[in-house]
Amino acid sequence: MSDRYSQVVNAPVVSTVAKQLGLPQPVELDRYKAGAPVVSGRVLSGAAPGGRLGRALSAFLDQVKAERAGTEGPAKALLFDATGIADSSELVELQRFFYPAVGRLQRSGRIVVLGTPPAEAGSPRAATAQRALEGFTRSLGKEVGGKGSTAQLVLVEPGAEDELASTLRFLLSPRSAYVSGQVVRIGPAVAAAPGIDWDQPLAGKLMLVTGASRGIGEAIATTLRRDGAELVLLDVPALSADLKAVAQRLEAETIELDITAEDAPAQIAERLSGGVDVVVHNAGVTRDRTIAKMPEERWSSLMEINLSSEERINDELLDRQLLRPNGRIVCVSSMSGIAGNSGQTNYATSKAGVIGMVEAMAPELAKRKATINAVAPGFIETQMTAAMPIAPREAGRRLSSLSQGGLPVDVAETIAWLASPASTGVNGNTVRVCGQNLLGA
Ligand SMILES: NC(=O)c1ccc[n+]([C@@H]2O[C@H](COP(=O)([O-])OP(=O)(O)OC[C@H]3O[C@@H](n4cnc5c(N)ncnc54)[C@H](O)[C@@H]3O)[C@@H](O)[C@H]2O)c1
Repeated sequence: MSDRYSQVVNAPVVSTVAKQLGLPQPVELDRYKAGAPVVSGRVLSGAAPGGRLGRALSAFLDQVKAERAGTEGPAKALLFDATGIADSSELVELQRFFYPAVGRLQRSGRIVVLGTPPAEAGSPRAATAQRALEGFTRSLGKEVGGKGSTAQLVLVEPGAEDELASTLRFLLSPRSAYVSGQVVRIGPAVAAAPGIDWDQPLAGKLMLVTGASRGIGEAIATTLRRDGAELVLLDVPALSADLKAVAQRLEAETIELDITAEDAPAQIAERLSGGVDVVVHNAGVTRDRTIAKMPEERWSSLMEINLSSEERINDELLDRQLLRPNGRIVCVSSMSGIAGNSGQTNYATSKAGVIGMVEAMAPELAKRKATINAVAPGFIETQMTAAMPIAPREAGRRLSSLSQGGLPVDVAETIAWLASPASTGVNGNTVRVCGQNLLGA
C-alpha cells in the first residue's frame, strides 16, 4: 500500500525542509528476512544490582549467538534487567544505564527492559518502583521511535525466568517492527515445550485461521505457513475463489462458512475432530455509525461476527477437548477496543470484549495447559484503511511513535510469536501492534 507522504517527505531537498518544519519523517523499518540473525548487530546489556535474570539473559544471548557490545560503539539492542529495583530511590539505575547507552542505539534498534509484575514484587515499595518502569519504557519508545526503534517492558513472574526465549527472540528482532511501548507479562510454562526448531517453530502444528482469504488473515496464514504450520483456512462462501487461491498457495485445507451460522461451531469442530493446536480468530468487520444513528441490526450483526461467534467456537472446541496440549487461541482485537473511536461504539465494544474474553479465559486455558492472547492492531495498511478519507487516514498513520502505518505482516509476526509452542509462559496478554499509536493507553 503506498504511503506517499513518506516518499515525498524523505525525498532529497524536501527532506531538509521537512526537518526544518519539524514534520515527522518516517524511516523505513527493518523487517524480518529469511535466515537473518535474531539481532543483526551488537547487544548492550545491563542490570540494576540484585537483578534475578542475569543467568537467563546471558544463556539467551549465547543461544542466539548475540555479539556483545563493549563500552563504546553502536548497538542494535539494549537489554536492561530492572528486577533488582526494589525502591523508588533505585530507579536512577535506569538513568545510569540508558543515559550513555541510548545515543549508541542504531536505526530500527530494540530496547527491552525486564521487570517483575508489581503485585509480585514483594513489598509496597518494590511494587511502586516496578510499576514505575512502565512510564519509563513508554516514554523511551516515544523518544526513539523517530529512528524506527522500539521499546518494551517485559514483566517476568518469579519462577518464569526460563520462559524468556520466544518473547525476547520476537521483541529483539525485526519481526516486532511495528510493536512498541508494550508491556508483556510472562508467567511459568503452562505446558512443557521440548526441542523447538527455531527456524520452523510451528512444524507439525495444525492451525485454524478465520477470515483468511485476504488482508491481515492472508498475511497471518502466510507467516504461520512460513514457520511450518499445517493450515485450515476459513472464510465466507462469497469469497470462495479468493480463499481457494490462498489455500492452494499455502497447501492448506479450507472451510467455507459464515462463523455466525447456528451450526458453525459444530461444523468447525467436525472438521477439526482430530484436534487442533492453534485457533486464530481473525475474521471481523466494521459497521461504523454513531450510536445516535445505529440501528439494532447493525449493532447485533457486528457483535455476532466479532465477539459472540468466537465465544461459541471456543466453547465448542474446549467442550469437545479438541484444543491439543500446549494449544493456543489467538484473537485479533483492535486499538479501537482500547482507546474508543467516534462512530465505532459497536466495533470498539466488540473488540474490548475480545480483550475481556482473553483475560477471563486465560486461567481456564492454563488449567488445560493452553494459552489465550490477543493482538490489537492500530493503523495497518490494508484495502480497508486505503479506502478511508484522507484526513483520518493521515492522522492514523502519523500519530504514532513510528509515524507510519504498519503492514499486515507485522500483525502476522506478532501472532506467530504468540502461537509458538515456546510461548508457553505468555497467557492472557493483549499486545498492541500499532507503532505506539498516541491514542489510548
Ligand atoms: N486493517 C486494520 O487496520 C485493522 C485494525 C485493527 C483491527 N483489525 C482487525 O483485523 C482483522 C482483519 O481485518 P482486515 O483489515 O484484514 O479486514 P478484511 O475485511 O480484509 O478481512 C476480514 C476477513 O474476515 C472475513 N469475515 C467477515 N465476516 C465473516 C464471517 N461472518 N464468517 C467468516 N469470515 C468472515 C471476511 O470475509 C474477510 O476475509 C479484523 O478482525 C479487524 O477488525 C484490522
